[in-house]
Amino acid sequence: MCGIVGYIGEKQAAPILVEGLKKLEYRGYDSAGVAIYDMEKIHIRKKKGRLAMLEEEVTKNEAKGVLGIGHTRWATHGAPSDINSHPHCNGDCSISIVHNGIIENYMDLKEGLIEKGYIFHSETDTEVIAHLIDDLYDTDLLSAVQAAVKMLKGSYALGVISSKEPDKIIAVRKDSPLVVGLGERENFIASDIPAILNHTRRVYLLDDNEVAVLTKDGVKVLDKYGEECGKQVFKVDWDAADAEKGGYDYFMHKEIHEQPKALRDTMTSRISSENDDIVLDQIKLGKDEMEKINKVYIVACGTAYHAGLIGKFAIEKYARIPVEAEIASEFRYRNPIVDEKTLLIVLSQSGETADTLAAMRLVRERGGRVMAITNVIGSTVSREADDVMYTWAGPEIAVASTKAYTTQLACMYMIAIHLGLLKETITKEYADRIRLALLKAPEEIEYVIKQEERIKEFAYKHFKVEDMFFLGRGLDNYVAMEGSLKMKEISYIHSEAYPAGELKHGTIALVVDDTVIIALCTQEELFEKMLSNIKEVKARGAYIMAIAQEKNKSIEREADEVFYIKDTEDDVASIATVVYLQILAYYLSVARGCDVDKPRNLAKSVTVE
Ligand code: F6R
Repeated sequence: MCGIVGYIGEKQAAPILVEGLKKLEYRGYDSAGVAIYDMEKIHIRKKKGRLAMLEEEVTKNEAKGVLGIGHTRWATHGAPSDINSHPHCNGDCSISIVHNGIIENYMDLKEGLIEKGYIFHSETDTEVIAHLIDDLYDTDLLSAVQAAVKMLKGSYALGVISSKEPDKIIAVRKDSPLVVGLGERENFIASDIPAILNHTRRVYLLDDNEVAVLTKDGVKVLDKYGEECGKQVFKVDWDAADAEKGGYDYFMHKEIHEQPKALRDTMTSRISSENDDIVLDQIKLGKDEMEKINKVYIVACGTAYHAGLIGKFAIEKYARIPVEAEIASEFRYRNPIVDEKTLLIVLSQSGETADTLAAMRLVRERGGRVMAITNVIGSTVSREADDVMYTWAGPEIAVASTKAYTTQLACMYMIAIHLGLLKETITKEYADRIRLALLKAPEEIEYVIKQEERIKEFAYKHFKVEDMFFLGRGLDNYVAMEGSLKMKEISYIHSEAYPAGELKHGTIALVVDDTVIIALCTQEELFEKMLSNIKEVKARGAYIMAIAQEKNKSIEREADEVFYIKDTEDDVASIATVVYLQILAYYLSVARGCDVDKPRNLAKSVTVE
């Protein structure tokens, strides 16, 4: 899971590459590097550490040239180090490559190349590709790359340059994202569009097994048979400023605040102005197809999986179809029961998560239908699904997902209502009630955001704790899971989420004096039960912060601190509740001096399994 960029044109490549890499740092940030051709040979500058280290190196040790490739790394094979950083080269550095993905058969290929006398310097799978291209090179770089990729097993997006043919960049994609940017007397490659948005809005979205040959004056895209394919130009219409911090200290903070807008964008365009009904144009799954479906899976990873759990609740409740929600990396390896009567719903902010994609492919191979909820237009998930519903959250840059999660919840509810109406398992009146509550969610989030100072105070009072527990019942249990993940990933506080009723079957043994417990009590039907659970942990000395609907003031008798959400339908209370937990995790992270947007060991887009 790394980011790659490439430039060929008339300007100095190094600053363009470094600027592009900055926009890709979310994809990995343990080392970075560039390779620049200076009319004589290829110069490599690479450094372990954040991109700032590379910038310093490139300033100190300038590399001039109008052709280059760059890389920001998230280590898979070989620890983060200068040597393992990309770009990698063949022996005389006449060929240089950057790679995102994993080469599964690299050990076999490496042994064969060592027997032929090749010397390896790094522990990476990528270096194998550089030597392999060298071994297959005769007089034509394109043919050598095409022959090399035929021998690779695994996933790759590659950018390749050679001092023997310095008029081109060769780019290849298989199971890792790659786009080509089209400029005037200059062209680009990148793992993701924001990296090149300052230079062009016209891009080709490469498909698997396509090879692009970029020169300064043009781009040729070849299919897997080597035939030129008529690629459609994709015009990017989002604003580059959307991807910037806009006055906030961290992207995560900005993205938390963007949630009311993101939710409105996601929902209002799907409400008919005529009769207020939910209209899901993008979903072609009609009544007849729905009749045939006897099994629904919701599959995703991390935060998206937590949104899937709430989706399971909503679909089962409204459409009365059994739904299994599963983690993609488990689903794909357990031979799930899937046939043409199966509907798979996948959720993925990036649309590139390797395990989620594999789950989709498995279901499609067995004849099932795939519906995708994703935030990235043109992502692999969006291209391979039968039906796609976009979350209109805008680019999410912070590694910790916030606005993608709440917009995924909105999509899940809209789909559940849509399916319930299709199956006639809910009445129009009931659907209207939930829809109206859903449409109020942006205001309810605004109300939560207004309590930010109080949450900040709570965070600064407790930021030294080493453990926290999140308790909830029903939907609150799923929100608790998301709150706990957010806390772990950005503040590094150990935390656990527990169904409150399950506590006394083991975990309550961990509760001692001053253990901080976040008790979610937003579900009216389960409110009294939550009060009993709170009493149980209070009796063991716990300090309780509770979140409840405003109507349930009696919570104040039991909890040490109470935060309210506006009264709403229980089903959609999760959307506002989670925002408290996002803000709490955010301030705990800031108070503990953590790197909020780039938590250790994590990357935004997990394109390896
Ligand atoms: C946590 C987080 C991750 C992602 C997960 C799936 O804050 O962001 O858990 O939710 O890696 O990513 P996508 O949604 O891109 O498939």
